[in-house]
Amino acid sequence: MSPSFTATCALPLMLMLLVVHVTTIAEASYPLKKITVRINNTLENNQELTVHCKSGDDDLGPHNLLPKNTYEFSFKRNFLQPRTLFFCTFQWPEDQFKLHYFDIYDQKRDDCSKCFWEIYKFGACLYGNCKRWNNS
Ligand SMILES: *[C@@H]1O[C@H](CO)[C@@H](O)[C@H](O)[C@H]1NC(C)=O
Repeated sequence: MSPSFTATCALPLMLMLLVVHVTTIAEASYPLKKITVRINNTLENNQELTVHCKSGDDDLGPHNLLPKNTYEFSFKRNFLQPRTLFFCTFQWPEDQFKLHYFDIYDQKRDDCSKCFWEIYKFGACLYGNCKRWNNS
């Protein structure tokens, strides 16, 4: 076996196998956690709410919610992706369908596995813990 074969093929292959091995061990010791985000249209004056959520990889598309109806999505929290973030826009007729922005799931901020939000005109509440819309 020539040295150049070792340097160009064998070493990268060994490194790759090592990475795969370490990843497998890490995944086994930190099982993926299932997170469910539920959004309840609790807007004042019984208005329809349009919700559109995205993450870095996923566009969940727009959803129209009748008053007191919910929309939910689930995902597996992945340790390889250190900060899962889902951000959404919210629109309703009384505010001329203006876009309101909110981070509906932020792994650094949220410790919930059932993240059940209620949406009001001023912002969003998670089990009575309320936050205002983001500015942009
Ligand atoms: C949405 O929230 C309202 C007010 O808390 C509640 O009455 C209603 O049952 C909820 N809707 C769903 C589908 O859970």
